[in-house]
Amino acid sequence: MACSIAPGKVILLGEHFVVKGMPAIGAAVTLYARVCVSSGQGRVESRQLGLLLDLSSNTVNDKGLYRVVEELAGRFGLKRDFHATIDSEIPISSGMGSSAAVAVSTTHALLSFAGVEPDKKAVWEVSFEAEKVYHVRPSGVDNTLSTYGGVMVYERGVFNRVKRRWPDDVVIVIADSGIKRSTGSVVADVLNRYDKYSNVMSRIYDAASELVRDALKSIETGDFARLGELMDINHGLLSSIGVSSRVLESIVWAMREAGALGAKISGAGRGGIVIGLVETSKVPSVVEKIKLLGLTPLVVQIDDEGVRRAPDSRTSQG
Ligand code: MEV
Repeated sequence: MACSIAPGKVILLGEHFVVKGMPAIGAAVTLYARVCVSSGQGRVESRQLGLLLDLSSNTVNDKGLYRVVEELAGRFGLKRDFHATIDSEIPISSGMGSSAAVAVSTTHALLSFAGVEPDKKAVWEVSFEAEKVYHVRPSGVDNTLSTYGGVMVYERGVFNRVKRRWPDDVVIVIADSGIKRSTGSVVADVLNRYDKYSNVMSRIYDAASELVRDALKSIETGDFARLGELMDINHGLLSSIGVSSRVLESIVWAMREAGALGAKISGAGRGGIVIGLVETSKVPSVVEKIKLLGLTPLVVQIDDEGVRRAPDSRTSQG
């Protein structure tokens, strides 16, 4: 049995503005998709996620994973002798890169099972093929963070790892609003607003770009009080381009009132997740406030490694 795990991600700063070429910062976080592969007859499944690929009966309800299997067959001669099962703790359809983490961990586990050393470049390339099936024009941020881990700044398709001084006592708290929305339509609305008010909007976008560069310095120098304030400002800019909502504001303010260093929408907005930058001493009060809103908070840290082998739970239990 070969098992692999791959992390999900959050966008720390710069979403939406990145669509027009501004920089953004993303981070892999300690929530994982996990895939275990044993001998079988060409099957990939997850009851939890409702995924099934059964090559013996030509049943395919996930075209991205089918693409992974085809790519691995073409590049590495993968045989149809596997049975892969997938579990994930990453919220789905929330902008946390769940589909990318599934593609990355499946690629890694299938290669390991086939006796091929799962080189990260190959895992990245194969998982990006799946991302192209799932998204019209994927930026590559999800599968890049899931493959390599860490914090990355990306701008116009170029990714750079951020050397950070992230204090041990600062975590990210995630609250999933549970409101599903189409990223594509939110992005389209924002671009329409840009065209309608381009003189004003271009200045907001310039401010976002400055803000991300300033935040980068804060991450590199370990100034997390400043990073939190910049996240608050970033949230204000996201609000001004029309992607906040009453529910998201209530989550953001709950986090701030409970003592978060900063809180903002993360991802496309209008629904999806809110993230807070929180000192560990303040985590209990932030968690409590989110629960009072009827939501389930997730407390995460940065995942530095990206995709990797995981212990086989069946043998590790013994
Ligand atoms: C969505 O998670 C992030 C956006 O910036 C869209 C994108 O970058 O493709 C809103």
